[in-house]
Amino acid sequence: MEAAVGTTPMIYCEGLVKIYKTDEVEVVALHGLNLTVEQGEMMAIIGNSGSGKSTLLNILGGLDRPSAGQAHVGRWNLLKMTKEQLITYKRETVGFIWQNNGRNLVPYLTALQNVELPMLIHGKLDRAYAKQLLAAVGLEHRMGSRLTQLSGGEQQRVALAISLANRPQLVLADEPTGSVDHATGERILEIFRRLNREMGVTIVIVTHDLSVADRVDRVVAIRDGLTSTEWIKREGDGLGNESEMSARPEQDARFGSRHERFVVLDQVGRLQIPKDYLEQMKVEGKAVLSFDGKRVTIGPPEIVEENSDSS
Ligand SMILES: Nc1ncnc2c1ncn2[C@@H]1O[C@H](COP(=O)(O)OP(=O)(O)O)[C@@H](O)[C@H]1O
Ligand SMILES: [Mg+2]
Repeated sequence: MEAAVGTTPMIYCEGLVKIYKTDEVEVVALHGLNLTVEQGEMMAIIGNSGSGKSTLLNILGGLDRPSAGQAHVGRWNLLKMTKEQLITYKRETVGFIWQNNGRNLVPYLTALQNVELPMLIHGKLDRAYAKQLLAAVGLEHRMGSRLTQLSGGEQQRVALAISLANRPQLVLADEPTGSVDHATGERILEIFRRLNREMGVTIVIVTHDLSVADRVDRVVAIRDGLTSTEWIKREGDGLGNESEMSARPEQDARFGSRHERFVVLDQVGRLQIPKDYLEQMKVEGKAVLSFDGKRVTIGPPEIVEENSDSS
């Protein structure tokens, strides 16, 4: 990417594909996802369970490798990084808040020790900064408490402080309000907002919780591993209800009604056709492929035969 300094997006994904292979089955979790997040944004990616949110976040966080497409975070190309670069990337560029709190926190350590741990691991202990972070999340009075003595919401705030310990440019949060009550969730989002404003850190939250939409600058919907048309929240204009969200077209607006999607061909030439395409084509069991030397058309037997001599 050759964009000028300052205009490089924080995140740039195009046609991002992730396929999980487990024994016999292949699950396509991301189907060619497009996403751009600018530096300094605080945005949310909202979708139902199984839509690919954690998959996307794990790829952006360097915890999992993409299968195909493009994924850049700042100056890093996530498809081309070596193992060593990945370690540097995770250490310096991203902070992560996992859906499962147990992954963020060490229960028998104090709040302060938990925040200092990633600093120690990376050889840069800065106790004053660790304290400052705990103060920023409203836990200055609980710094010496063991994690087991803190409430779920307080633990989540410790997780937030930990994610910032190595001064990342980007914080990725997987369902950060998922396991706390509404008021605590609001408080956590307020803290995110303050950290975003005061430290300029870019924040990406993935969640199934529609109420998060009111607390971020921008919302992108995700369904079946694809982001829908992005829309910018105008001032005072909430996202609306779920039915409004599900009425949004799935594919990128650029594709109009052509319904283009990226699919991946495996080594033996198999590809997976999205279920809704099959349903619309009414293809079951058998399909016909026609090939004009450039493009393959797939359809139910009679329709492909009808169209096969038109260009
Ligand atoms: N490690 C994995 N192995 C196989 N399939 C997976 C794995 N992780 C996620 N999936 C599948 O990928 C899809 C997207 O999952 P995920 O990204 O966890 O969704 P979300 O976070 O939106 O609930 C689901 O169909 C899920 O079953
Ligand atoms: Mg998830």
